[in-house]
Amino acid sequence: MEILQDHEQIISMPRIGDKAPDFKAITTQGNINFPSDYKGEWVILFSHPADFTPVCTSEFITFAHLEDKFDKANCKLVGLSIDGLYSHIAWLRTIKEKIEFNGMKNIEVKFPLIEDIAMKVAKKYGMIQPGESKTQAVRAVFFIDPKSMIRAIIYYPLSLGRNFDEIYRALIAMQTSDEFEVATPADWNPGDDVIISPAGSCGIAEERMTSTDELNCKDWFFCTKPLGKKEVLDKILKKPKLLVR
Ligand code: BEZ
Repeated sequence: MEILQDHEQIISMPRIGDKAPDFKAITTQGNINFPSDYKGEWVILFSHPADFTPVCTSEFITFAHLEDKFDKANCKLVGLSIDGLYSHIAWLRTIKEKIEFNGMKNIEVKFPLIEDIAMKVAKKYGMIQPGESKTQAVRAVFFIDPKSMIRAIIYYPLSLGRNFDEIYRALIAMQTSDEFEVATPADWNPGDDVIISPAGSCGIAEERMTSTDELNCKDWFFCTKPLGKKEVLDKILKKPKLLVR
């Protein structure tokens, strides 16, 4: 067996635009085959440093509380830490039975939590960042699209709990970009104006500046247009199932 020194450890860092690296894993919801089990839907794969720690507990309660909201946006959640399966099970039971956070209590975590005691997945996904910790995963968030491509990555250090409004906003913004072929400006939320792709020729630049339609061009390279909140959400969110009598 080859023994690697610390500095020789093979840690890969997947990038935006890469296919999500594949792995098989044991989770609190049974075995998964990643990303193939999630083809056709978005998935947020996220890591946390350790079970039975306070910041992670606050995050799990919040994420589990929002699970239905993410599901309506065709997005599944998958968590991971460098802990064993029985630790995960015990922690999730404690969360449900004992912990209240921000008014949320009795919260059942129904999404899979990967056991990764051997750090195989954590290393494949660059979740171990040795300057921060050699034994715990940082708080990584991978947004993976229905074609299993990595579309966004956010990393937080151990001490900083994530902002789940931002995670949801980023998901909806990327789905909006895909559906409407637009980009989204700073702090965009559904209902705000969207950005249309920059003019690719002098002719289009001129057209944009003289156009009288709904485009609002501050200059030839910076054009926005309205996109209604209802139009966005009707396209992106799953329709509620009708009760058939
Ligand atoms: C926490 O979740 O509270 C935590 C985990 C690892 C390091 C620091 C904080």
